[in-house]
Amino acid sequence: MNVAVVLGTSKSDGNTRRLVNEFVYQSGAALFDLSEREISYYDYEHKNRMDDFLPLIIELSEFDHIVFASPVYWYSMSAQLKVFFDRLSDLLTIEKQLGRRLKGKSISILSTGYNTELPECFIEPFVLTAKYMHMEFNGWTYAAIQSEVDLAALEAVAEMALHKIH
Ligand SMILES: Cc1cc2nc3c(=O)[nH]c(=O)nc-3n(C[C@H](O)[C@H](O)[C@H](O)COP(=O)(O)O)c2cc1C
Repeated sequence: MNVAVVLGTSKSDGNTRRLVNEFVYQSGAALFDLSEREISYYDYEHKNRMDDFLPLIIELSEFDHIVFASPVYWYSMSAQLKVFFDRLSDLLTIEKQLGRRLKGKSISILSTGYNTELPECFIEPFVLTAKYMHMEFNGWTYAAIQSEVDLAALEAVAEMALHKIH
């Protein structure tokens, strides 16, 4: 299985990145860090069609599975990832053909947060978006981090995430 990770976090060397690094190390997945791309808010007039969103989708269309990695920020996905999700609307309007290339792929969530449980309201947009885009939702893996990052624990969480994909 050809796996890509799309990471959206405000801290490029933070908790989510550390979990993602462990996952990438174990899986050989390709990492796409949204902080390295210029992707602007959804524009009804599509004046931003030349930014980094469509090229990123073209790259992602080469993979079978996409892991969306985000910390929990106020019970939700990070703003970086939300902007990416909003831009999926480009694939329903100006780039339908490209959008069709995502059909049949599977997705999953990799997340970190402070609280012991990942809130349902965090998961739901991924489940519903996958359904809408005719993609399969393969579940979520979450690391609750309340103090120092425990590398052995992150390793175990990354391994769990990998098992869910295969
Ligand atoms: C703006 C902000 C909002 C947060 N909101 C939540 C939250 O709603 N639930 C939670 O469990 N943790 C919350 N946290 C804690 C982070 O999810 C947690 O520290 C996470 O591991 C940070 O990942 P990062 O280093 O990739 O940013 C929040 C942190 C920040 C900075």
